[in-house]
Amino acid sequence: MNTLILFGSPKRNGNTAQLCGAFLQGLPKNNTVEIVRLFDLNPKPCNDCGYCKASDGCSKKDLDAFMQKFQEADLIVVASPVYLCSFPAPMKALFDRFQRFYCARFRRGIETPVAKPKKAVLLLSAGSGGTQAQQMIETQVKRAFSVMNTTVIGTVLADNTDETPVSHDDLQRAYALARRL
Ligand SMILES: Cc1cc2nc3c(=O)[nH]c(=O)nc-3n(C[C@H](O)[C@H](O)[C@H](O)COP(=O)(O)O)c2cc1C
Repeated sequence: MNTLILFGSPKRNGNTAQLCGAFLQGLPKNNTVEIVRLFDLNPKPCNDCGYCKASDGCSKKDLDAFMQKFQEADLIVVASPVYLCSFPAPMKALFDRFQRFYCARFRRGIETPVAKPKKAVLLLSAGSGGTQAQQMIETQVKRAFSVMNTTVIGTVLADNTDETPVSHDDLQRAYALARRL
């Protein structure tokens, strides 16, 4: 299984990284795993230039290599802290850039703009009261993935990290989610 991790935290050893680590431990060992750090990738924001309404791809070329990796993946892991009830800005920019697939599907009538079917999981960490943010993020992700042949099969939220570190139970839930794959 070809796993692509979309890693949304600027911290390499923070709460999201812990959750992600537990998930990776639970994955079958024959996995190929690649991590894309969104704060390094720093996608240019979509500015609704209209290119993808008429043509395949995007007027901005900074995500071409990433999109190729996305197309080839079997499993997408969206691992992110909650910022203001949503994603940190680079992850939000990436999800806006997925608009090219929405336009491919509904403006240009392409049945499957992403050929290879994928599963996806969400690993989220939140400072306090993260349940509402989880719903917001799930709504965003499911809307984008609905035209990307990608099905969300589960979410793990590590909440209340303002007060307590990521708990053993959180890590266990991330591990267990991976074991289901
Ligand atoms: C700019 C910013 C905005 C945040 N907004 C929220 C929020 O709306 N809700 C929440 O529960 N936590 C919020 N947090 C807290 C983070 O989600 C939390 O500390 C998280 O565990 C950080 O994960 P990390 O260590 O992987 O970066 C925010 C943190 C920052 C820096």
